[in-house]
Amino acid sequence: MTEARTLAPPERRLAEVLESRRVGAYTLITAADAGGPADPRPGQFYMLATGAQWGGGSTERPYLPRAFSFARARPRPGGGADLDFLLEDVGPGTHRLGLLGAGEPLALVGPLGAGFGPAAGDRQPVLVGGGIGTAPLLCLHDELIEVGAAPTVILGFRSGAHAEAVALFEREVTLSTDDGSAGRPGLVTEPLRERLEGGPPATVYACGPPPMLEAVRALCAEQAVPAQLALESGMACGFGACFGCVVPTREGYIRVCVDGPVVEGARLRSALVAGGGDQG
Ligand SMILES: Cc1cc2nc3c(=O)[nH]c(=O)nc-3n(C[C@H](O)[C@H](O)[C@H](O)COP(=O)(O)OP(=O)(O)OC[C@H]3O[C@@H](n4cnc5c(N)ncnc54)[C@H](O)[C@@H]3O)c2cc1C
Ligand code: FES
Repeated sequence: MTEARTLAPPERRLAEVLESRRVGAYTLITAADAGGPADPRPGQFYMLATGAQWGGGSTERPYLPRAFSFARARPRPGGGADLDFLLEDVGPGTHRLGLLGAGEPLALVGPLGAGFGPAAGDRQPVLVGGGIGTAPLLCLHDELIEVGAAPTVILGFRSGAHAEAVALFEREVTLSTDDGSAGRPGLVTEPLRERLEGGPPATVYACGPPPMLEAVRALCAEQAVPAQLALESGMACGFGACFGCVVPTREGYIRVCVDGPVVEGARLRSALVAGGGDQG
């Protein structure tokens, strides 16, 4: 995926939060990044922190910035982009970012990493997201529609509150929830299997929790379908310096922040890689 990369300005800069709103169980933050590129690639990510009050308190956490895929980017008339980030409050970093209001600074570095690449041959794109892994599929979905592709979108969430993120997509989505409170009950791999077995040749683009990504990887391997998987890994720097994000592949270890986060499924024996927990 290394060709699908927009390079980041090397320094940390301050964006301005324009809006923060709830989307079901998630928070959607929009920030004006006047100093960054206007065209990050879907699947790339930014390292985020608040401009003030990051760390401190009794535990000093969050100390390190946190990695977030951008969900959408709109070029700004004067340069740069308005960036959307979709967050789930799972720890001190996401909690603090979720408290940001309009006018406050958002510290960021990015865009980083290698994003999604084009579909192989004339295969149709099938986008598969689990939970907060939906975020990078939003901009990919928009881009595919812009170039005249007709992506199939299959999303799975824990509950109906999480599934409200479906409203962010302009086209129809096949929805499932673990508890059956919205869409069909069960896992995304069930509608994915139906689509792969019953539809035209596909390229799968997936992002979600490791068990879901592994199920998608295994299904695509079984069906000989190319898959581009957006991995998560604990990240301290985000740009290749700390080796904190390494994961094993068939050819040896890679750094998810520079060699990914999007990786060809065929390169992996398993997508059950270490997650982004407890980042200091
Ligand atoms: C490339 C990339 C893109 C990402 N994009 C997004 C995005 O768009 N939106 C989003 O919300 N997140 C995204 N993430 C995930 C996010 O960066 C992490 O969840 C981050 O660690 C959150 O920081 P935190 O301080 O809120 O939580 P942390 O304290 O870092 O905890 C994160 C998760 O790990 C679990 N955890 C904490 N401690 C432990 C422990 N000791 N053992 C096991 N599990 C533990 C927590 O329960 C929680 O689920 C992305 C990560 C990567 C690598
Ligand atoms: S996060 Fe530091 S090398 Fe990848």
